[in-house]
Amino acid sequence: MATIREVADKAGVSVATVSRAINNSGYVGKEAKSKIMRAIKELDYKPNEVARSLYQKTSKMIGLLLPDIANPFFPLIAKGVEDVAQEKGYMVLLGNVEGDSYREQKYIDFFSQYNISGVLSASSESQSFNNGIPIVFLDRVKDRESFFVTVDHFKGGQLAAKTILKSHPRKILLMVGPRHVDVAVDRLQGAESILSESQMDYVLFETGTYQADEAEKTAVKLLDNFDDVDSIIANNDIFALAIIKEALKRGIKVPGDIQIIGYDNTPFSSFMNPQLTTVAQPGYEIGYEASNILFKIIDKETVHQSILLEPYVIERESLRKVGK
Ligand code: RIB
Repeated sequence: MATIREVADKAGVSVATVSRAINNSGYVGKEAKSKIMRAIKELDYKPNEVARSLYQKTSKMIGLLLPDIANPFFPLIAKGVEDVAQEKGYMVLLGNVEGDSYREQKYIDFFSQYNISGVLSASSESQSFNNGIPIVFLDRVKDRESFFVTVDHFKGGQLAAKTILKSHPRKILLMVGPRHVDVAVDRLQGAESILSESQMDYVLFETGTYQADEAEKTAVKLLDNFDDVDSIIANNDIFALAIIKEALKRGIKVPGDIQIIGYDNTPFSSFMNPQLTTVAQPGYEIGYEASNILFKIIDKETVHQSILLEPYVIERESLRKVGK
């Protein structure tokens, strides 16, 4: 691989001049610049990114903190983020936080050491960065004073409740996500705002988590302890799919005996039989729009506002058809 010294020699200039030309960090004469660019092309020289980032105290990298990459909802967000980063010539450093604040802090320290240019965070543990690195929250918004892209989860909770009420429930179980996560509280409040007006009998089931690796044991616990409910508003698609799987294993008919609505619209939710009816949130768009905002901040462009996206219902097969 060609070195900066070889580029300088070929262009007939000093290494310092080549460095200024590469980093746009000072005056370089037109003729010298032209010779340097020609030498870089002929030698197929690739600047050393680590050295450049040390020199410029920034790098062509951004950090992405996600709570659980085992949940297929989050790779949708990551794809949206990465598509914008690729357009901008940046790489994405992924931190899978798993709801662990110590693990998250290690990622934040690592990001800082590598002079990353900005961070996107869907982690509910995220602290606001205190070292000047721009941060944009996505999905879970830890600090509403920062810029963010998320979904109107209060409305999402209302949609889930309205949809299941249309399907002639007898007794509803409302699954509650981790109460330290803003999206869980918003969805709970939205659903209860509808259920409390409906005079419908419902019970809360605290899950305390959205982590995919908790879904199966949660499904067993729910079906073991609530055999009198016939309608479930799940806290997310992964948990809903685990409940359908466990119900079918027990000979319980879905949606005949138990009907269920999910939340997220992960890619696998239509693969289940019966296919999962769910409240969809546009994961890819969340990532794409948040990434656009972050790069506006990195490029010192004006950012006008954060973005609140709309959830919507996708009717499939896991709710009883109206009229049956
Ligand atoms: O499924 C994971 C949940 O946590 C989603 O509903 C999403 O909103 C995330 O915050």
